[in-house]
Amino acid sequence: MNHTEATTSLLQAFKQAGQGQVFSYFDQLDAAEQAQLLEQAASIDLAEVATLVDEHVKGEHTSAVDLEGLTPAPYTALPVNGGDATQWSAAFEAGSAAIAAGRVAAFTVAGGQGTRLGYDGPKGTYPVTPVSEKTLFQVFAEKIARSSERFGVTIHWFILTSEINNSATVAAFEAADFFGLKPEAVHFIVQGLVPAVDYEGKILLAETSKIAMTPDGHGGSLRALVRSGAVAKMQELGVDCVSYFQVDNPIIQCIDPAFIGFHVLGQSELSSKMVPKAYALEKVGHFCMQNDSALVVEYSDMPNSMQEETNPDGSIRFNGGSVAIHIFDRAFIARAGSTTSDVQLPFHRADKKIPYVGADGVIVTPDAANGVKFEMFVFDALPLAKNPVIIEAAREDDFSPVKNAEGLDSPQSCKEDQLRMFTRWLIAAGENVEVDGTGLPAITFEISPRFAVDQADFIAQWAARVDQPAIVDGLIIE
Ligand code: UTP
Repeated sequence: MNHTEATTSLLQAFKQAGQGQVFSYFDQLDAAEQAQLLEQAASIDLAEVATLVDEHVKGEHTSAVDLEGLTPAPYTALPVNGGDATQWSAAFEAGSAAIAAGRVAAFTVAGGQGTRLGYDGPKGTYPVTPVSEKTLFQVFAEKIARSSERFGVTIHWFILTSEINNSATVAAFEAADFFGLKPEAVHFIVQGLVPAVDYEGKILLAETSKIAMTPDGHGGSLRALVRSGAVAKMQELGVDCVSYFQVDNPIIQCIDPAFIGFHVLGQSELSSKMVPKAYALEKVGHFCMQNDSALVVEYSDMPNSMQEETNPDGSIRFNGGSVAIHIFDRAFIARAGSTTSDVQLPFHRADKKIPYVGADGVIVTPDAANGVKFEMFVFDALPLAKNPVIIEAAREDDFSPVKNAEGLDSPQSCKEDQLRMFTRWLIAAGENVEVDGTGLPAITFEISPRFAVDQADFIAQWAARVDQPAIVDGLIIE
């Protein structure tokens, strides 16, 4: 078959890179299928794939982290846990001033595939609130709207999607009229995809006309922000503090004045919230120090004996759990996300069961890992950042992700955590709500993020409310 010059040179490049199998079925495809495959192939950085294969698939590929000299990272404790209340108030003031000056944008990473939840659609469109079943995106939108109102400023919102879920995400926002936000203040960024390879380093085909590709991890968000022009947009808007959070965590304080204040006052390039581990072997990353740099060490890279080490008073030594809540300095994103920079986030290898096209052109669904996906992790930026700041957060005020369909970190556990949080706010505002031993109320109700975004906001809003409703089952305070 005759091909155009561009097609011939792409096919040639893949052949030369030892990846010619990608086009094994090319001549049997129709024109549309060929175009799809060519477009995908053209987006692949073959040199990057070759390096990834050399580093992670062939050879030694020991991903074990060097544990030498690892110590727990210091952090600023919450006032209730011995932190300095004056310092927290000063941070709150500084953060409030930065928000009011338009220096802060929200950034949600929503490019993942959400395979554990098993929901068909972008995870942000999953309903999560206990009564009105608002979706994750609506919850964040309303929090951002309320914070904008509170600080008298338009807070811009950047959302990372991937090729796989971008159009469905944008469609969900359009259908909901951007949840009341100004469309020009909502910015979608599409992250990159990387091909999956087999244990020989060969790029796998998901279909005869489709390469098996997956998003390049939440760490890929930094280069996506740079490549898409979002960093330049932030600069134009005067934004230099980027409040980073995951799409699956509806109780997050999207715009947290105290956190932003610690970041600004510390002249930090990357600030993080830590949550004390719930138990020694909790499956979270650990904030650590090594050679004067802060870093996150995944639970899977830290031996159990180390995770279980205790201080003389019996408390857990490595207790700083990472919950993927950060403030990035814009200029740091420009540096860490630039492909020409001296600082680059590393890729990690994940062994997965990857359906692929077998020798006879039939799709094979393996029952054991048959290949490798590559991902970057956002916390790998931590050792690259100047003046990293780590502050303590209360888990119940910031972290209850929806990861799994059932059990731990599920829609049910998240709803219950939201109910406990709303109840604490009401009790702090002087109301009486009956709860069980875990703080869970007997009634199901909801506080709209449009009404209040945190406890202090709620107390003020509730006190100012002239027609306070009775607190009954099914109530939505809005
Ligand atoms: P997870 O590690 O929970 O992955 O992502 P996931 O893809 O959402 O879910 P599983 O593992 O398939 O069940 C944590 C956060 O990082 C985002 C996700 O959207 C989520 O907000 N993420 C993850 C990206 O934005 N891009 C990626 O490539 C991976």
